[in-house]
Amino acid sequence: VALAAFAFGKTYVVGTSADFPPFEYVENGEFKGFDMDLIRAIADEMGFNIKIVDMSFDSLIAALVSGNLDIVIAGMTITAEREAVVDFSKPYWTADQSIIVKEDSDYTVTVLFGKHDIGVQTGTTGDLWVEENLVKTKILTGKFKRYDTFVLALTDLINGNVDAIVLDSPVAERFAETRPVKIVGIIVTGEEYGIAVREGNKELLNLINEGIQRLKENGKLGEIVEKYFK
Ligand code: ARG
Repeated sequence: VALAAFAFGKTYVVGTSADFPPFEYVENGEFKGFDMDLIRAIADEMGFNIKIVDMSFDSLIAALVSGNLDIVIAGMTITAEREAVVDFSKPYWTADQSIIVKEDSDYTVTVLFGKHDIGVQTGTTGDLWVEENLVKTKILTGKFKRYDTFVLALTDLINGNVDAIVLDSPVAERFAETRPVKIVGIIVTGEEYGIAVREGNKELLNLINEGIQRLKENGKLGEIVEKYFK
């Protein structure tokens, strides 16, 4: 009751980076995807309103900290660095990283070594992984390209301007089904996605966690999973 009274009728601004199917993408001018349905369902369940705003992934945390956003849901991995500046909900999904190349290329996982050009989305865990493991170690000697969105990265991959992209496995799988790209390797990172709020915003965090719990219990979370991961 206390939770509902806190939230009732309020509108929270939700930030995402809508380039990450099946979690968030734009279709016919609308925000679609697992995360979008999840946050809408949480809002319905807990009695608050939301307004969804699309921005580059790398701007989300800063926008949350500065107060331009109240909630971030963007397939965002819970990491120690991010935990230091924002608060995360209980995890709602797990993922690894995948390496994708053009469908008709002969590249294997060794595309990550030597003089190849590798793309990532700026500020993602894939970005950090490549930087730490391949760039700093000089295992990768080609170009390391950072993109604002996966839409741009994918276009460059398909046009042959970059040899491989490192990104979250569930999203790589979706692109492999819908675009002329294929997965040639998996980097097991065991990441967990969480919904972020401003540090110390306990009321909103409790509301989100309670919402997730209720959606698990009433079967609505299962329906959203079915819809996007059948
Ligand atoms: N899980 C990765 C991370 O947290 C990538 C998330 C990218 N999300 C997006 N909506 N583009 O860094």
